[in-house]
Amino acid sequence: MTLEEKLGQLQLLDNPAAAADRAAALDLVRRGLVGGILNAHGAQQVNELQRLAMQESRLKIPLLFGYDVVHGYRTIFPVPLGEASSWDPSLAEETARIAATEARAAGVNWTFAPMVDIARDARWGRIVEGAGEDPFLGAEMARARVRGFQGRALAAPDAVAACVKHFAAYGAAEAGRDYNTTDLSEWTLREVYLPPFKAAIDAGVETVMSAFNDLNGVPASANPFLLTDILRGEWKFAGFVVSDYTAVPELIAHGLAADEADAAAQALNAGLDMEMVSRLFNLHGARLVRQGKVPLARIDEAVRRILRLKFRLGLFDRPYVDETREARLMLAPAHLDAARRAAARSLVLLKNQGDLLPLRKDLRAIAVIGPLADSQRDVLGPWHAAGRAEEAVTLLQGIRAKVGAKTEVLYAKGCEIEGGTTDGIAEAVRVAKAADVAIVAVGESAEMSGEAASRTSLALPGHQLALVKAIQATGKPTVVVLMNGRPLAIEWVAENVPAILETWFAGIQAGYAIADVLFGDVNPGGKLPVTFPRTVGQAPLYYNHKNTGRPPQPNNKYTSKYIDAPWTPLFPFGHGLSYTQFRFSNLQLSRTRLSTNERLVVTVDVENTGQRAGDEVVQLYIRDVAASATRPVRELKGFARITLAAGERRTVRFELGPEHLGAHDRHMRFVVEPGEFRLYVGNSSAGGLEARFDVFD
Ligand code: NOJ
Repeated sequence: MTLEEKLGQLQLLDNPAAAADRAAALDLVRRGLVGGILNAHGAQQVNELQRLAMQESRLKIPLLFGYDVVHGYRTIFPVPLGEASSWDPSLAEETARIAATEARAAGVNWTFAPMVDIARDARWGRIVEGAGEDPFLGAEMARARVRGFQGRALAAPDAVAACVKHFAAYGAAEAGRDYNTTDLSEWTLREVYLPPFKAAIDAGVETVMSAFNDLNGVPASANPFLLTDILRGEWKFAGFVVSDYTAVPELIAHGLAADEADAAAQALNAGLDMEMVSRLFNLHGARLVRQGKVPLARIDEAVRRILRLKFRLGLFDRPYVDETREARLMLAPAHLDAARRAAARSLVLLKNQGDLLPLRKDLRAIAVIGPLADSQRDVLGPWHAAGRAEEAVTLLQGIRAKVGAKTEVLYAKGCEIEGGTTDGIAEAVRVAKAADVAIVAVGESAEMSGEAASRTSLALPGHQLALVKAIQATGKPTVVVLMNGRPLAIEWVAENVPAILETWFAGIQAGYAIADVLFGDVNPGGKLPVTFPRTVGQAPLYYNHKNTGRPPQPNNKYTSKYIDAPWTPLFPFGHGLSYTQFRFSNLQLSRTRLSTNERLVVTVDVENTGQRAGDEVVQLYIRDVAASATRPVRELKGFARITLAAGERRTVRFELGPEHLGAHDRHMRFVVEPGEFRLYVGNSSAGGLEARFDVFD
């Protein structure tokens, strides 16, 4: 390979069809100056581009085709935050598997997922793309998604290479403003932000995407500590690192690089292998090598990593995809079934006063109200790959399909999601008054979360709260169905409306799944993977915080709290109700004293004391009471989603070892320190049964 051709492999280009100069982009492919293309999908389109590389370029190296298949390709599953609410990694693996099957059939062989950024600040719109605020849950979901996307063999026609992103600490953006600077301790980096990445790498993820953000003064895309010391040195990662979209030239705006050549040199030398969209490696790489500013060995290493993935994907043997397979596979009945199941499992029942839910199917009339009640576009969420709004099932459609012929389903939009007037509220009130129950779907539009969609308010936008208040004032039993990409500050709703169901953006089968839950065909069992604050002023609010020297006390002003709002969340991490009740008892520890390298078995009995079968997510938290580097008040270290028949009791078992009890000390060594530990097992991050044990040297 010439040096130019080597640098060509380091180039990921946006879809030429969308380029200002399409001919010039295609010419780069012909000249062998492109390693992969993003955003081209569909078997025919991909094959055409691949043909250019395979037939017209000198070396005939196949292209990679990357795409953001984040929660489904054409069959759109719940947004990742929703899927994380299922607390069911096997479900996440299954949906990723289906996404990979459809994507590969459409020519995509590389997905820019899973996004595993821990997000503690609900203002940050990209909180919707990850698994929430907790590193343990995040790691479990990351592992499952990687396994699902990559399958058993990458060369199989139903596998894609995964790309864990955004490395690292992108979710710690100051003030929740997207792309903003992050400045955090190495302890927090290692304890909170890195574990899901490590889990993805241990699960064999093929690629990593470097983040846009500046981390402690060194932008992630040119950060040798992240890209080389941790990734290669500590974790032995053997795949390649791709930059995020134009992150290399952005090193200039960050104030790190003086010019384009400098940006390319710093990124390459830090360990970045492939550049997304911008072409600084291509334009400046050869000169940088000749000048001795970037070693040729560094370029060779990057090329080798990229070619290795192409071999592994089987692209040298089978560069093209079968164009008949695509149509056969998309939206296969089994895929849609999984989408409905996944959606139902990701719903979180936040409140259900007086057992208002589930609803009977033979009510006389049901009012379905709200700007999100019949929006096909929004239920797909912000990233929806090749998903099509016209294929999505809205809440209104789902309810119509669920109830009997004698039940009248009345509909009124009430208001817009954002902006607009209050003119439609009167009609919504009329409709509610004519019905036995009012179901009000409110929240955010899909575009209000995701990339570049940070908010300074967590309130229901527009006139939606006024709509809810007006419906509630009719005196009709009211159910609020939330659709949103982040925790919302909905204190009034939580205090006044009897039933609230959090549905996030539940995907292509959203309406059917929500109706399954509203009418009791599915008993909800999801739990919040993020804390719901009462007000935006509490952000960032997360359960695994440090205790401070002055933990909040009700009658003591000089403790850590606010003078104008409670310090507690509206709904804690891990919260979620069911149509049945569970009792936890008999918490047992196999020992109460153990040495730093011993293991501990924890068992607890969980009994369904209600009248119907249901799911509970049994959660285990620990607290290291005194450590050389302080530890959070609680840390999730185990969970299990179980299904129990009415009256059934089961013993749930957890095993804790050094990997659970340890943490980084002041010198960033991962150690188990002797001393007292507390342990909590319950159905959320608040309360639960409690035990203690001691670790000795
Ligand atoms: C920018 C986003 O930050 C990243 O998540 C995505 O994969 C790329 N654009 C490609 O679409």
